[in-house]
Amino acid sequence: MFDGKTIIVTGASGGIGVPLVNRLIDLGARVIAIDVNPRGAGILEAAISDASRLVYHCSGLEDEAACRAILGKEDHLYGLVHLAGIFVPDDMASGDVEAVYDPVMAANIRNVYALYATARQALLNESGARVVLVSSLAFRRGAPGHTAYSAAKGALVGMARSLARKEAPHVLVNVVAPGFIDTTMPQQIIANRGIDNVVGEVPMKRLGTADEVASVIQFLLGPDSAYITGQVINVDGGIVCN
Ligand SMILES: NC(=O)c1ccc[n+]([C@@H]2O[C@H](COP(=O)([O-])OP(=O)(O)OC[C@H]3O[C@@H](n4cnc5c(N)ncnc54)[C@H](O)[C@@H]3O)[C@@H](O)[C@H]2O)c1
Repeated sequence: MFDGKTIIVTGASGGIGVPLVNRLIDLGARVIAIDVNPRGAGILEAAISDASRLVYHCSGLEDEAACRAILGKEDHLYGLVHLAGIFVPDDMASGDVEAVYDPVMAANIRNVYALYATARQALLNESGARVVLVSSLAFRRGAPGHTAYSAAKGALVGMARSLARKEAPHVLVNVVAPGFIDTTMPQQIIANRGIDNVVGEVPMKRLGTADEVASVIQFLLGPDSAYITGQVINVDGGIVCN
């Protein structure tokens, strides 16, 4: 499905990133995997079938120079998936702007703004390129005590809709909004609230798996989603019913 295509994945060595990269490699893609985790290359290499089409960059994508250092030689890019993010609580208290808001914005939205700006021409050079930004249930209904995170996840949706309209028909831009997915990210929330309370509000009565999110991202990268752009797809077991 992705033979000869290069796809960037940020947050690639995280819970959802690993099964996604695994799928993309199995489907023939060359994957440029980016993550701040210095152990990320080893995590991915242990999980995928063919590491010859994996390029790993340990980077926090702090600015355009960091993005250029990764993408400088890439003149054709088919896809960009933005999974990188941090989920940090805040209290709207004195000091939270510097301690929480700034780093949350940097890790969830500012980085992909810089990355898209750097990757844009290479995406436009490819026919029917795809961008998938990963937002959250926290944007859909607001995560109490995670105001900055909820705001950042909403910002991703605004960014996607703006880009979808600007770049059509050359680049299709969509959003996936996961609910409670069984990775390390929501474990503190689950511990605080109790698994029965968390699962109790999910119509499907269970957490989602990381691969159930990866499969929807794969769909949005693939040929079967050729007339979809500017959309937000919830992968949340039915918590948000449109
Ligand atoms: N797991 C869930 O329940 C859930 C729910 C809603 C949304 N999401 C979103 O899905 C995405 C992936 O979540 P996950 O469950 O795989 O989480 P995760 O914590 O396992 O993975 C996130 C990855 O992003 C990396 N990262 C953090 N900041 C970075 C930066 N500045 N640059 C590059 N990499 C960076 C981390 O090192 C980590 O590997 C996140 O954007 C998250 O907000 C997850």
